Amino acid sequence: MGTEALIEFDHVVAGYGNLTILQKASFSVREGMITLLTGANGAGKSTALKTLFGLIRPNSGDIRVNGTSTVGYTPRQMLDLGIAYVPQERTLFPSLSVYHNLELGAITLSRKEIRERIDEVLERFPRIRERIQSQSSTLSGGERKQLEIARALLLRPRIMLIDEPSIGLSPKIVSEVFELLGQLTVAGTTVLVVEQNVRSALKVAHHAYGMEMGAITLDLPADQILDNPEFNRLLLGGHVETH
Ligand SMILES: Nc1ncnc2c1ncn2[C@@H]1O[C@H](COP(=O)(O)OP(=O)(O)O)[C@@H](O)[C@H]1O
Ligand SMILES: [Mg+2]
Repeated sequence: MGTEALIEFDHVVAGYGNLTILQKASFSVREGMITLLTGANGAGKSTALKTLFGLIRPNSGDIRVNGTSTVGYTPRQMLDLGIAYVPQERTLFPSLSVYHNLELGAITLSRKEIRERIDEVLERFPRIRERIQSQSSTLSGGERKQLEIARALLLRPRIMLIDEPSIGLSPKIVSEVFELLGQLTVAGTTVLVVEQNVRSALKVAHHAYGMEMGAITLDLPADQILDNPEFNRLLLGGHVETH
C-alpha cells in the first residue's frame, strides 16, 4: 500500500456566495487507502467534496492532487486527472435505461470503448447487468447506488469521491457497497468517502477525519476512532450513526 498523499486539502476556505462553510479545512488522502470523512449534518462534508471536485472555487487555501494545485480546475479537468465523483443526491436519468445512464457517464469515450468498459465494469455488478435494458426508475435504491458507482468507474478513475453512499439503503446493501469500496482499493483505486454511517464505513476505511462547523477536528487511523472521546463529543453535536 502506498503512503503518498494523493490529495491535499490545505486550509481551504469556501462556501456559497457570502456564506463561508469551510473554515480552513485541511485533510489528506493517501494513495491506495479508503479515507472516511464524517461529521454531523451540516458540518460541511458535501461542500468539501464539491470544492475538491471543482464545483465550488475556494476563497483561500490550496488543493493539490499529486502535488499540483487544482484550484480553479473545472470538474471536467478533475475527471481528466482521474478523479470521479458520486454526489449525495440522485443523479440518474430515471426515464432512461440502465445502459443509457452508463453511456452518459462516459461521454469522453468512443462507442466501442464504452461497450467494452460497460462489460468490464458490470462484472462487479451482476444485478445491474441483468437489468441493463430496464428503465432506471424501476431499480431499487441499492441498485441505483450501484449504477451510479458503476457509471463513475467507467472512466477508470484513480480516485473516487463518494458522498453518503449508504443513505436510504438497507443494512445488507450498505455492507455490499462498502465491500465494493474495499475491493476497489485492492484493485488500485483510492477512495474518499463521506459517510455518517460510521460503523459500516469503518469496516473498510483506513483513516478517518471528523468535521465540525467546516473544520477538521479529528484525524485518526480508522481503528482508533470509535474509542476516541473527542469522537463521542462530535457525535453529541449531531446525528452520526454508530450502529
Ligand atoms: N447550495 C447551497 N447554498 C447555500 N448554502 C448551502 C448550499 N449547500 C449547502 N449549504 C449549507 O452549507 C452547510 C454545509 O452543508 P453540507 O456541506 O451539505 O453539509 P454536510 O454534507 O456535512 O451535511 C449547511 O449549513 C448547508 O445548509
Ligand atoms: Mg452531505
